[in-house]
Amino acid sequence: MTEPLILGIESSCDETGVGIVRGTQLLANEVASSVDLHVRFGGVVPEVASRAHLEAMLPTLHRALKVAEVDLSELDAIAVTAGPGLVGALVIGVAAAKALASYLNKPLYGVNHLAGHVAVDLLDHGPLPTPSIALLVSGGHTSLLRVDDIATSITEIGSTIDDAAGEAYDKVARLLGLSYPGGPVIDKAAATGDPKAIRFPRGLTARHDLERHRYDFSFSGLKTAVARWVETRQLDGEDVPVADVAASFQEAVCDVLSVKTIAACTDMGVDQLLIGGGVAANSRLRALLSERAEAAGVQLRRPRPALCTDNGAMIAALGAQVVAAGLPPSGLDFGATSGLPVSQVCV
Ligand code: KG4
Ligand code: ZN
Repeated sequence: MTEPLILGIESSCDETGVGIVRGTQLLANEVASSVDLHVRFGGVVPEVASRAHLEAMLPTLHRALKVAEVDLSELDAIAVTAGPGLVGALVIGVAAAKALASYLNKPLYGVNHLAGHVAVDLLDHGPLPTPSIALLVSGGHTSLLRVDDIATSITEIGSTIDDAAGEAYDKVARLLGLSYPGGPVIDKAAATGDPKAIRFPRGLTARHDLERHRYDFSFSGLKTAVARWVETRQLDGEDVPVADVAASFQEAVCDVLSVKTIAACTDMGVDQLLIGGGVAANSRLRALLSERAEAAGVQLRRPRPALCTDNGAMIAALGAQVVAAGLPPSGLDFGATSGLPVSQVCV
């Protein structure tokens, strides 16, 4: 049997994504971003994002079909992000997917955005050995997951107790006067800085914290520490060494993410690890985790950076796994769920 041909639609935040895959083979991944419209606000404005999804949806769909050289009639199923995300943004994708599915009379699957960030790696590295540990690091979420089956069994073993890693990048960029989104600009600024210049705190790594929060993260203390450090410098009338602050902040984030991730692998005796989400595109996180995984005898899978940030291919990739697992379609009677838990892969 040939593998299922799936169209995936993503609209949970500020990227309108349409991807097409056949099983684990990527055929098209078209993304229209509204980021430029949000830059002056320093973060995503939900109403602006929703309007942009509405305008970008059809052109993005047409581009994806053209690139993949696929006709809508050939599709086996359609998958769409049902949550989590901004509800007004999600409903645009969900409505588009329902319209397509009912017009084409094809099965429709409402799937989980976070599980999509994990599933996208299959497009680069093939079927996922299980169990695997997944580090999910995005703008809204930071979690450690145990994946026993990508379509049916994802368990959260830890998560952030305050800010997400991407959110910390965005906030620190803002206080350094850098643009939005902060991740890529800090990554770039850090390249010329000294990661050892300032020793910023590593959240939830003290012995007493590890007892209760071994696999949990906290980035709000780090963000405050950076803000205080910058403020003190400014009050003293001195220049802020942006590259050094960026590199030192990034080192603190990547250090704690990688230490806790490798600890989860070692503790649970799982030697397969993968990363996903926008922050998984970060050059230092990729390098440090790969060093530490190798030292611990853990096999690390890193999707190419362009697949780490939000896109439609990740939703199509997850849809293909859900179809292959024989799960029932979601029907047309589901809505957008802004707080969909990662354990619910399919609605
Ligand atoms: O997964 P994603 O595209 O959207 C959400 O689901 O939130 O992640 C976006 C986040 C933003 O906070 C952005 O600053 C961060 O990912 N990001 C990065 C990098 N590229 C994007 N963070 C660190 N380094 C990067 N290279
Ligand atoms: Zn995302």
